[in-house]
Amino acid sequence: MVNQKLLELIREEPLAHMRILDVGCGSGALALKLAPLAGFVVGIDVAEGVIEEAKRKAEREGITNVAFCTCDALKCDYSAFAPDMVVAHFFMDDSVVVKSAEALEQGECLCFACIEEENLKEIGWRSRFAYSRRRMKKLLAENGFTVEHLLVEKEAVYFDSYEDALTYFIGYKRRWNPEKWERLLRYFKEGGRKITFSTLVGKGRLQ
Ligand SMILES: C[S@@+](CC[C@H](N)C(=O)[O-])C[C@H]1O[C@@H](n2cnc3c(N)ncnc32)[C@H](O)[C@@H]1O
Repeated sequence: MVNQKLLELIREEPLAHMRILDVGCGSGALALKLAPLAGFVVGIDVAEGVIEEAKRKAEREGITNVAFCTCDALKCDYSAFAPDMVVAHFFMDDSVVVKSAEALEQGECLCFACIEEENLKEIGWRSRFAYSRRRMKKLLAENGFTVEHLLVEKEAVYFDSYEDALTYFIGYKRRWNPEKWERLLRYFKEGGRKITFSTLVGKGRLQ
């Protein structure tokens, strides 16, 4: 499911004539939601499999103002996609901000939702893709963005039993690093029943 606040921040912009670049688009959840509202959407992802899946979804849904491309968003030049806005949903790196600033014009936006540093704090796992509000604020400012929104969303999920927790998380097993998965299991086995998801949602406008 796409972060609701992020959608709200994106929808504040005059999308109808805009070209939006979705970096780390995965199988197109955000790009396909935005396409009916936008001029054109390009989704890029380094994983060929998810790009093929996104293309199939677009075809199934009859969405024609979208293109998906296998591409390394940490290395490629975003200007090649001529974006009027860059969006990122759970894909973030310093270079996303740097490259967005290089490709966007004054007044244009970067909108994102990413992992915040306190995500899953109960299991003591710090993702290398996580940002604190403070670090992101500095990164945006260093790259010429005015911060229009930058807030942390926290959601605590409670479980009645180990089995409940496992049922909830089993879908993550395939995608997670084995050590992270083991930490989660240990936490629940030892009686942990609460997990906090923490997301940083932001919008920067290039000065
Ligand atoms: C957590 S998923 C989010 C996918 C999608 N934005 C969504 O919300 O459904 C992170 C995505 O980033 C992609 N990714 C990782 N490294 C990348 C890179 N260097 N360039 C482009 N995409 C990358 C992964 O393949 C994955 O699809």
